[in-house]
Amino acid sequence: MDQFVREPKGIQKWWDDFELSGQNVVWREKTYGDNVAVYKNQEACKAMAATVAYKVANQNFHRGDAALGNLQWGTTYLNPGTVDGECNMTHGHFHKADPICDEYYYGISGEGFLLFWDGADDFYVEKVFPGSLHYISGVYAHRIINSGDSVLAVAAASLPATRQDHAVIETRPFPYRCFKRDGQVVWEKA
Ligand SMILES: [Fe+2]
Repeated sequence: MDQFVREPKGIQKWWDDFELSGQNVVWREKTYGDNVAVYKNQEACKAMAATVAYKVANQNFHRGDAALGNLQWGTTYLNPGTVDGECNMTHGHFHKADPICDEYYYGISGEGFLLFWDGADDFYVEKVFPGSLHYISGVYAHRIINSGDSVLAVAAASLPATRQDHAVIETRPFPYRCFKRDGQVVWEKA
């Protein structure tokens, strides 16, 4: 008989560096250069292209062969910073092909916002802070925004089989943009 009492398959720290570690955890980095298309001032974004905007740690036991119903856990670590005043943010995506695929986000560290948009007239943000829990219906595009002065860490439980649509965000921007001016959060219509 295999060992009956075992260590967990992963650890999601809610202290110190808030790191996700464990089996099948893969890290990737996004630079500002990867997300030029989603910022208002694209020239300013290009000027800081090599700077890391955020890191993502992802535990996925179905990498490459995911079926609908399989789950993954991912934690995004957004650095504080702005592009010509616009707060650092994730690219954002729709689950356009699979709107039945919901998602949960969970704030671990830092402060910011989760922006929702149904692709039409319905859009809003939820405050993100340590302990905030966010149900995301699959019909809403979603993006995390760091409006604070420290790393914003947000965990997510999602379906790896979801076909994320990033491209549409680049041709049709989210209706509102988040800026930080003189230490204050300012929302501007896109
Ligand atoms: Fe998603």
